Amino acid sequence: MTKQDLFKQKAARAALDYIKDGMIVGLGTGSTVSFLLDYISEKELDITGVTTSKDTSRKCRALGIRVVDIDMVDHIDVTIDGADEVDAYMNGIKGGGAALLMEKIVANNSKTNIWIVDETKVHSVLGSFPLPIEIISYGSGKLIQNFEEKGYHPVLRLDNAGNPVVTDTGHNIIDLNLHYIDNPQELAEYLESQVGVVEHGLFINIADVVIIGGEQIVTHNRK
Ligand code: A5P
Repeated sequence: MTKQDLFKQKAARAALDYIKDGMIVGLGTGSTVSFLLDYISEKELDITGVTTSKDTSRKCRALGIRVVDIDMVDHIDVTIDGADEVDAYMNGIKGGGAALLMEKIVANNSKTNIWIVDETKVHSVLGSFPLPIEIISYGSGKLIQNFEEKGYHPVLRLDNAGNPVVTDTGHNIIDLNLHYIDNPQELAEYLESQVGVVEHGLFINIADVVIIGGEQIVTHNRK
């Protein structure tokens, strides 16, 4: 196991403190969450999961973790998810695993949102990680052209076979290579105003707690 995986694992283990029997728990997507699912299963925690991707649903089924559709629950106590990048304000970029839309829906319906990341994900300013934008396929070439004109260096995400990646909700992904996002809020508003954009991977003011795994565990709480 790499050091990064070890740190992801530590962050995932620390998140167990926020989960109690009987809770409805939003379950994110990615390798860090995958460690969390292993722990939930090992500890036989009696939770009901609301998942953010087909991958996470599959893993829950394999581990015997109960999962329900988001529309079957009247609340979600806590959601625990990974992130691709986190800044000093606890804002982040998500969607590296193409699950940003379902992740944002689950997060917006959760009382508390906790991110579990390894220390390499933490940067003072967002933008090192390409910003995923979920789009409808019709007219995607036009959107790409618009983003090119803005200097966003867009790249349509392809799968291993060279076809556009299709998300669990049937859309495509454009990654914007921005390197430095000086005003995430302004960028989010611009992206939300673009017809054809379904959702973007900027998660602003969503995380209540960020658990950072490194040699030590560091926890940040939104005041
Ligand atoms: C999924 O679309 C992303 O938002 C993930 O939460 C993110 O990619 C974290 O992945 P890892 O835990 O595998 O680093």
